[in-house]
Amino acid sequence: MLKIPKPEFKEKSIRTFVIRAGRITEGQRAAFEQWWPRYGLSLYDGSLTDIGYLVPGKKLVVEIGFGMGDSLFEMARVEQDKQFVGIEVHPPGVGRLINCAGEAGLDNLRVYMADANDVLQDCFDEKSVDRLQLFFPDPWHKKKHHKRRIVQKEFVTRVIRLLKPGGILHIATDWEAYAQAIVDLLREFEELENLAGEAIYSARPAYRPQTKFEKRGERLGHRVWDLLYCRRH
Ligand SMILES: C[S@@+](CC[C@H](N)C(=O)[O-])C[C@H]1O[C@@H](n2cnc3c(N)ncnc32)[C@H](O)[C@@H]1O
Repeated sequence: MLKIPKPEFKEKSIRTFVIRAGRITEGQRAAFEQWWPRYGLSLYDGSLTDIGYLVPGKKLVVEIGFGMGDSLFEMARVEQDKQFVGIEVHPPGVGRLINCAGEAGLDNLRVYMADANDVLQDCFDEKSVDRLQLFFPDPWHKKKHHKRRIVQKEFVTRVIRLLKPGGILHIATDWEAYAQAIVDLLREFEELENLAGEAIYSARPAYRPQTKFEKRGERLGHRVWDLLYCRRH
């Protein structure tokens, strides 16, 4: 019987997530047993190149914090010409995504159950990513918690290093103050060009399905801000 893997993360003083308590259901346990060996990756496996996952000529899309995974599953299903890597620390979401992928027979998706900051640091080669997606990152509303937001200077530096020239950083949030803080921060990086130009915010691209978190916000009347930046060189 497979031991259900635990989320992987290295010691650090500030984390961008809280591991939510909750027992793993029988369905999720079965999903891990059946599908983790096929879709799961470990932070300690080395780079995607070492693992042999990267297919030359196929674009690589990485999504951080995919939650329950519905929208990532949909994108991987529709965009078969690309390879997808999801990173999430919430075991029920990981279980659900690999179950959907397994039942659909997807072969262009792999998943880390780990802290994205560690995965970005250790598992990707420089200039290897075509699109990096961060949809509805935890906004950490209170000022004293802003240091827990994932979009920080160090994170952006890491992302730029991994993007190919011409690669896209796509962030969406329904928290206006966070959107504004991200815009202000990204202005400091001359390597990034805002694809919306003066308009700053982009329309939701056709490839991005609405996420679970977004749909819940929509029912509460929340607006959404999509930010699309391209690595210039
Ligand atoms: C507000 S939820 C949004 C989930 C999903 N993107 C959606 O829109 O439905 C944010 C997610 O990011 C995950 N997360 C936060 N920090 C993370 C990190 N450093 N590494 C991996 N996942 C992270 C959380 O576990 C959570 O599931």
